[in-house]
Amino acid sequence: MYVEAAICDYLREEIFPQLAPPPYAEIEITSLGTRKPVCLFFEKSKNIMVVGKLFKRGVVPLEDAWLEADKEYSNLKLLREQLGMDGDADHVVAPLGESRKLSALLVTERALGQTLDYYIGKAIFDQQHDELFQTLGYLARFFAKLHEASKTERPLSPELPRFYLNAILNSLEDKLIDYPERDEIEKYALRWWHEERVFASDRETIVHGDATPTNFLFDNGNVTAIDLESMNWADRCWDLGFIAAELKHHFMWRTGNKWTAEPFIGHFLWEYAVNYGDTNLFRTITYKLPLYMALGLLRIARNFYVGETHRKRLVMEANKCLKYGL
Ligand SMILES: Nc1ncnc2c1ncn2[C@@H]1O[C@H](COP(=O)(O)OP(=O)(O)O)[C@@H](O)[C@H]1O
Ligand SMILES: [Mg+2]
Repeated sequence: MYVEAAICDYLREEIFPQLAPPPYAEIEITSLGTRKPVCLFFEKSKNIMVVGKLFKRGVVPLEDAWLEADKEYSNLKLLREQLGMDGDADHVVAPLGESRKLSALLVTERALGQTLDYYIGKAIFDQQHDELFQTLGYLARFFAKLHEASKTERPLSPELPRFYLNAILNSLEDKLIDYPERDEIEKYALRWWHEERVFASDRETIVHGDATPTNFLFDNGNVTAIDLESMNWADRCWDLGFIAAELKHHFMWRTGNKWTAEPFIGHFLWEYAVNYGDTNLFRTITYKLPLYMALGLLRIARNFYVGETHRKRLVMEANKCLKYGL
């Protein structure tokens, strides 16, 4: 295929020389992605592995795709070069290059290890609970480092979560959420927007912005974050609440019991506060977590692959978070 050949030429000319000298052998390509075309490129003779993500897909114009690719590239650079997220233990993946003309391609190093998704699966299906507790501890350490390094004095605003809630509710089609339910969710959310303690108790930090279990890899206690497309300035609970929502969703979906995720969520938040060096933070976070968990649950409810019954449960749980959380 023409694009593949052009990408391989680009890798040989611009990317591989950063990692090992020529000559290079054949490049083996394996698909990794589900949403976007994401591929692992493997050059055997020098054992080079890099990952390429193509932002141009379907009807998305190249210009928009390029903006997204370049945003992720700049985000990775900023975090590594200015905020110290390039250490061994906690880091974001290293960007190696970007090309507009090659379907808005971003090339990064290949991250080692297994994703959080893998450890959640092992806990649920093989009862490997300790491994998940430990992995969540590492993830908490990663977030504590990211949020600490980027903390500002800027106050938090309800605008971002409010805007986000509105956008997700708009995207959940009529069948999943009817008008009375949407009205109820918005009514409960309104109380949160006006609760001063929710927004006055902390300051803005950089958040990963897409804290899903497939965007973090773990290798012997080292954490690599990938997929920094949605990085933003926001409440730290944006990340923490999304992880909590993911844990709740995965356990509820695969065990049918909505409480089984609770010890893991509690442990994750506690470890976050401990790693941040401020256990009082545990109270601040848990107080407002239901708001961000609700956003996370609604966001997951947009995914068709989980089935309609479960999606409806997610919406119901989000509603409860907003209703009883405050
Ligand atoms: N640098 C990388 N190292 C290892 N695996 C990766 C890397 N980048 C992506 N992947 C794999 O590909 C999947 C999709 O990539 P991602 O950047 O998260 O794209 P998307 O925006 O489609 O979620 C990830 O969940 C991960 O399993
Ligand atoms: Mg991803």
